[in-house]
Amino acid sequence: MIFRQLFEPLSSTYTYLLGCSETGQAVLIDPVIVAVERDLAELGRLGLRLAFTVETHIHADHITAALELKKRSGSRIAAPACDRLPCADLGIEAGKPLQFGGIELQPLHTPGHTAGHFCYLAADRVFTGDALLIDGCGRTDFQDGDADALYRSVHEKLFVLADEILVYPAHDYKGRHVSSIAQERQGNARLGGERSLEGFRKLMADLKLPYPDFIDYAVPGNRLCGVCPGELPDELEKYCRQMTSSPQG
Ligand SMILES: [Fe+2]
Repeated sequence: MIFRQLFEPLSSTYTYLLGCSETGQAVLIDPVIVAVERDLAELGRLGLRLAFTVETHIHADHITAALELKKRSGSRIAAPACDRLPCADLGIEAGKPLQFGGIELQPLHTPGHTAGHFCYLAADRVFTGDALLIDGCGRTDFQDGDADALYRSVHEKLFVLADEILVYPAHDYKGRHVSSIAQERQGNARLGGERSLEGFRKLMADLKLPYPDFIDYAVPGNRLCGVCPGELPDELEKYCRQMTSSPQG
């Protein structure tokens, strides 16, 4: 498998490029609209054709590049079926693997951060979206978030995977790139070790996080598979402007 972990610094989002070396087909998991040029350049450099973009969930902190990549490269848009996005070409459901070339993505429904959230298992690695972050997890206080559901998703769908499965999250805010199931099961500060459901519920309720800057634009834009609003307040324009450098995670 050809593999790249790409970092978008504004929302600290990791986009994952998975390619099949035999067929030249690729998918991008959670592409970001400001990084479209970077992603197309990377696909070109690797000689890959983008078959699908795949979303873990409806993001609140950035706008997906799914629609723009479809226009530019002819890729198809895969998104969780339960979110019922009319713009999606393929609705992802638990138990229905996504196959491209020699690579299979196994969708795991992991509600809690959002109700429609999915993680994807591919061979020796799992893309955990915002359900499980390195030493943390996504918030559960909006978009039908539910701490109890997240606890169960992580414990029953992710922590049951083999110790050595690599954990690739949708974000990291501290420069970390990858973890493993064993590492998170033992040491994740929110969900690992002996943390009980009651303890997790209280921890999440006590976080008192600020209202996200971009959510009121990102969620409607992402329900259209990646449309930037016509007008944005000056301080939010950066969320729709192409990023200039191309840092890699
Ligand atoms: Fe999220």
